[in-house]
Amino acid sequence: MAANPTSVAEVNAGLRDVGYLPGDSTALVSFLATKLGKPVLVEGPAGVGKTELAKALAKYLGRELVRLQCYEGLDEAKSLYEWNYRKQLLRIQAGAGGGVAGFEHGDPVDVSWDSVQNDIFGEEFLLTRPLLEAISSPEPVVLLIDEIDKTDQEFEAMLLELLSDFQISIPELGRIDARTHPIVLLTSNNSRELTEALKRRCLYLWLDYPESEHELQIVRMHEPDLSETVAAKLVEVVRMVRELDIKKPPSLAESIDWARALLLLGAQDIDETVFKETLSVIIKHRTDLDLVADRVGVKLTQQNAPA
Ligand SMILES: Nc1ncnc2c1ncn2[C@@H]1O[C@H](COP(=O)(O)OP(=O)(O)OP(=O)(O)O)[C@@H](O)[C@H]1O
Ligand SMILES: [Mg+2]
Repeated sequence: MAANPTSVAEVNAGLRDVGYLPGDSTALVSFLATKLGKPVLVEGPAGVGKTELAKALAKYLGRELVRLQCYEGLDEAKSLYEWNYRKQLLRIQAGAGGGVAGFEHGDPVDVSWDSVQNDIFGEEFLLTRPLLEAISSPEPVVLLIDEIDKTDQEFEAMLLELLSDFQISIPELGRIDARTHPIVLLTSNNSRELTEALKRRCLYLWLDYPESEHELQIVRMHEPDLSETVAAKLVEVVRMVRELDIKKPPSLAESIDWARALLLLGAQDIDETVFKETLSVIIKHRTDLDLVADRVGVKLTQQNAPA
């Protein structure tokens, strides 16, 4: 059933119910997004729950999630709409072209090129891509425009019309107004600075690595069978690793994977041996491995040494 939250607390509880533990500002911005109808730009490092927030919000609100995964070179044809050339060609072949006879109710008729053009540029020949699909859905959806920073500024400019007026222009068809207004979440890993014009139209949410207590709750929610002691140690160790100057600090996604691995291995503690054996679950760069193994390994040994 579609939820229509009336408070931040309600959104907080709703997201928790579907397995997403939001921080305070996450619940607040999500609530405002449902009320103000403004898109939300969610920025932050990799693996902190940006994509998952959109999925959780859709689930909680009882809306379909329409996802546009961005990549370099993404264009209108893949994001907005495309003409179905095959179908158009078939219609032309079956019907007309410069005065060639077509058929109506089985009887031959002359069809002018103008009327063919009108015909083949109708909605029935349009292939809808995620953006058009989101605004033409009969029920309002959650639209996730994931990793917008991978596209170029031209693509951003095209998005502006959609995000500010909820309409698009198709040269052959004219203006198409949104049938319903989606809740829009855009995510970015900050690989490039987004334009001011885009930012101005959005609410902003910065998602960072969570505080220890929050991370512990998330890890325990994902892996409830892992003992609380091991989970707490995991969070503490991940924190130590994040403080080092490494290429790719472990994110929440790695913490959760590590919890799963430790549970499978039946680990009762994270000592230096267990840490080094399972290090590759949280460290993904060759150059980071040695540094982390040395620095954190030593600390773990010191912690376990008799006083
Ligand atoms: N607040 C949260 N509550 C519960 N699980 C979370 C939360 N935040 C993140 N997760 C979990 O962390 C993992 C990573 O999240 P997600 O894929 O959304 O990260 P991301 O920020 O989109 O990363 P990337 O930038 O690499 O795409 C997922 O398994 C997700 O379930
Ligand atoms: Mg993501």
